[in-house]
Amino acid sequence: MTGPRDPDRTSHRSAPAPRLGDSTRAIRAAARTPELLQRPTSVPIFQTATFTSADAEALAAIVGDPRAGYSYSRLSNPTTTALGDAYAEIAGGEAGIALGSGMAAIHAACAAVLRAGDRVVAPLAAYGSTRVQLTGYFGRFGVEVELVDTTDLEVVSAALAAKPTRLLYAESSANPTTFVADHAALAGLAHRHGAVYVVDNTFASSHVCRPLEHGADLVVESATKYLGGHSDVIAGVVAGSAELIDAVARVRTDTGAVLAPFEAFLVLRGILTFPVRMDRHGQNARALAGWLERQDGVERVLYPGLPSHPQHAVVERQWRPDNGGGMLSFEVAGGRAAGQAVIDALGLTERTASLGSVHTMVVHPPSTSQRQLSEAELVASGINPGLLRVSVGLEDVEDLVADFDQALGVARQVAAAAPALVDA
Ligand SMILES: Cc1ncc(COP(=O)(O)O)c(C=O)c1O
Repeated sequence: MTGPRDPDRTSHRSAPAPRLGDSTRAIRAAARTPELLQRPTSVPIFQTATFTSADAEALAAIVGDPRAGYSYSRLSNPTTTALGDAYAEIAGGEAGIALGSGMAAIHAACAAVLRAGDRVVAPLAAYGSTRVQLTGYFGRFGVEVELVDTTDLEVVSAALAAKPTRLLYAESSANPTTFVADHAALAGLAHRHGAVYVVDNTFASSHVCRPLEHGADLVVESATKYLGGHSDVIAGVVAGSAELIDAVARVRTDTGAVLAPFEAFLVLRGILTFPVRMDRHGQNARALAGWLERQDGVERVLYPGLPSHPQHAVVERQWRPDNGGGMLSFEVAGGRAAGQAVIDALGLTERTASLGSVHTMVVHPPSTSQRQLSEAELVASGINPGLLRVSVGLEDVEDLVADFDQALGVARQVAAAAPALVDA
């Protein structure tokens, strides 16, 4: 042996191992990973930026093809790969991938298929940041984006027929209106016109609706929401064919939109209880929506699981039976002031902008997520001034009903006290 190549393993030999310096020894000592012949029950957090290879040739092969092994965690990491694989199984895709956030997932899915000069047809009612990403960022790089009402199949068909289109985008259930996309019909239209059909399934979740089974090419979710489920992590996932997911993976690597291993671990832990939670979210939301429909001062309830929902027939064909998801919207009489009064009077819910958590969360979109829109624009997108969006959590539903009951009482007083201001 010519140098101190592996003093740990040569220590039994008769020639004394060369004495290494303290720093060298500390670095080697603290990086010695135990070898296990057993599998841990939880996916370990591979908190490392780098992985070693047997020799230079093996390293070159792995860097060239991350599927052959691990080299650098921006290319791939075992904890993050485990999450991508888990999502593929849950969503019914051939392959899956995890990214740094839902927006990173939407970006990578779109960037994987779009080139300058391409055209996208997307919903008018898309999540605000998605709309900004498509029109503002992809638009800036020469992608033409047309926003239409994707619940109107004739409008979508006309938009696709008008010009060659590369990508049709939809949300299973729109934020905040819960308007539902007919995946089978939209996928059929997209494919007839040579477009790729990409779906954001965040609001519905893959337990309740699986767009890939109805013809979608890629499905995206903000794993921040139902998959993580506890409002303690930001993450995104995409599933689809192995070919398309390979293209998404290249975007992730080259734009650096990776998910850290600890974040991937948190989402994996959330997935362990995902179906159980989704069933309870669905039961609670169905009960609360049904109760809200019977209350004075509630003008309209939009819940995909109710027969009164405008796309309930689609839900019956394409969503899990007896589970309309955990998201609902409702309109209170008394406009903006009454809507805000409900939020302020609720005692059990979280006043926050997110969704898909164990906690019930209520937002007033006209004064938060959609605040940039004028009253006329809000109404044109189906958002009336008194609209409230509820992400129904896992609390006891009787407690939620009691809390909404007293809050609606306050809203009725506000509406009665200021009738002249209502809907001004
Ligand atoms: C429908 C929808 N899609 C995507 C996102 C973005 O997810 P993230 O915040 O994880 O980037 C959100 C966030 O609220 C959302 O509501």
